[in-house]
Amino acid sequence: MGEIMGRMISIASGKGGVGKTSITANLGVALAKLKQRTVVVDADMAMANLGMLFGLHSAPITLHDVIIEDIDIHDAIYDGPLGVKVIPSGLTLSSYKKADPEKLKKVLSTLKEEFDYVLVDVPAGVDISARSAVAATEEMILVVTPDPASLADAMKMRLTAEQLDVNPIGVIVNFRRKEKGEASKKEIEEFLELKVLGEIPEDPEMRKSFYLKKPAPLLVRKEDTPAAKEIIKIAAQIAGVRLAEKKKGIVERLLSLIKR
Ligand SMILES: Nc1ncnc2c1ncn2[C@@H]1O[C@H](COP(=O)(O)OP(=O)(O)OP(=O)(O)O)[C@@H](O)[C@H]1O
Ligand SMILES: [Mg+2]
Repeated sequence: MGEIMGRMISIASGKGGVGKTSITANLGVALAKLKQRTVVVDADMAMANLGMLFGLHSAPITLHDVIIEDIDIHDAIYDGPLGVKVIPSGLTLSSYKKADPEKLKKVLSTLKEEFDYVLVDVPAGVDISARSAVAATEEMILVVTPDPASLADAMKMRLTAEQLDVNPIGVIVNFRRKEKGEASKKEIEEFLELKVLGEIPEDPEMRKSFYLKKPAPLLVRKEDTPAAKEIIKIAAQIAGVRLAEKKKGIVERLLSLIKR
């Protein structure tokens, strides 16, 4: 009925350890601060780091439970800081392989009726667990570091997205150190044929997030470090596009009223 649905965006890389989980968490917080209804989802069922970053290591009900035992997804949504909602994953390895990819998609797609953004933290690699996380979304942001191995893996992930009919919308470069030998923004854009949405520098404050006594995404703790500032810019860019769409939606609705 002309209602604008939320955007389902996977945050993926191919290569491990490039910052997917950190970026998903911080973009989620940044979008929530921009008054966007946002939920971040831990689809890395085997490692389950996203929930840890929000201090949800012992959440009673997780995405894992929702997928395995017909539990309502709403029972696995927790309040994070600054308005962001968090769906953590379980820490049990035993049955995660039984997870049915179609079920994940079905469960997550119900969320776009109530959220403006559903950000999905994808596991490393391009195997079935990564593919089913990506397939549950409609758009993808690739996270890369400016080195050849990361870019090659990102290309595999980009092709995977295309196979799964998921639209890659851009690249976030993480761990930018501005050292000689790093791929430049232009080189990354040309290689992946995607726009670079932002370049997050290596930032010791970002690294700390997991190690604190009370783990928390960088943006909850500090907003003025180099990495925090760049993430805020990226979120504003993403939300700006969305706000423009929403306005257009209103105009279209008005026009359709007049035409009746
Ligand atoms: N810009 C940054 N500056 C410094 N440290 C960072 C930055 N981004 C991420 N890190 C650190 O790098 C490590 C890996 O980050 P993270 O877990 O977010 O990556 P990932 O891609 O989700 O990894 P995995 O593939 O294992 O899921 C963490 O210790 C995190 O704190
Ligand atoms: Mg991760």
